[in-house]
Amino acid sequence: MADITNNTIKHIASPLARQTLLDGDLTRPIAGGRPIRILPWLQVVKIGGRSIMDRGAEAILPIVEEIRKLLPEHRLLILTGAGIRARHVYGVGLDLGLPVGSLAKLGASEAGQNGHILASLLAPEGVSYVDHPTIATQLALYLSAARAVVGSAFPPYHHHEFPNSRIPSHRADTGAFLLADALGAAGLTIIEDVDGLYTSDPNAQDGKQAEFISETTAAELAGYQGTLPFDRALIDVMATARHIEHVQIVNGLIPGRLTAALRGEHVGTIIHTGARKV
Ligand SMILES: Nc1ncnc2c1ncn2[C@@H]1O[C@H](COP(=O)(O)OP(=O)(O)OP(=O)(O)O)[C@@H](O)[C@H]1O
Ligand SMILES: [Mg+2]
Repeated sequence: MADITNNTIKHIASPLARQTLLDGDLTRPIAGGRPIRILPWLQVVKIGGRSIMDRGAEAILPIVEEIRKLLPEHRLLILTGAGIRARHVYGVGLDLGLPVGSLAKLGASEAGQNGHILASLLAPEGVSYVDHPTIATQLALYLSAARAVVGSAFPPYHHHEFPNSRIPSHRADTGAFLLADALGAAGLTIIEDVDGLYTSDPNAQDGKQAEFISETTAAELAGYQGTLPFDRALIDVMATARHIEHVQIVNGLIPGRLTAALRGEHVGTIIHTGARKV
């Protein structure tokens, strides 16, 4: 009979095997380090669904032209927001009592439609629309074949969307940030139809009183109760960022602003995140 006390089984030691993952003092030495940058040369650009895509040719064509000229200079992941069609589908879904996870999926499909539109216009440059599973597994491959790819900015939460609100809280800005930070990208630029963040909505009836905020931090915005030109959840994910040190919001209706932002110029609102400099 075989001697089971003297076998050659290799026991694999794991530094996290014998401890609760809830004890920060125990996990920090192993899990507290900064993750690697997967695509450190990548620039992520989020294009507003409502502010740019919904305006049609008048707003989209100049941005497409600007992106075309930027391609020799930058490798881009262009992520599109959902816009007015998502607001309509949320309205119908809420009227029917659909849960937030169902609405998240519907909103995400509208963001994807905008991505398909944009990718079609950039197709002569070799740019394609790429679905989330492919972005997760083959983005580097696609970006070695083309200077840019387009995807949906929505995170794929779907039925996992947090039920803390009837309207999905993790939308395009949050999704774009999570992806840019996870990839360790060089930067994230958010394109809107306003110059950046103001003290209140500059397009509201009392918009003339709104003051432009040129620079702020996620920490300063944490308790802000007013309206914003981006998802509120973006503030939460910026606070815990690992790589992206700041985000810039720029006006995509003004030619040249995106180009300047990607060259590191301060041409909109810069929001500093919680990521520490190395
Ligand atoms: N504090 C604020 N500063 C600047 N703009 C604001 C502010 N509050 C509200 N807004 C408004 O937000 C608008 C942009 O809307 P929103 O962010 O929903 O569009 P979007 O980003 O294109 O949409 P999506 O999230 O679907 O991509 C601006 O045109 C502006 O009127
Ligand atoms: Mg916005």
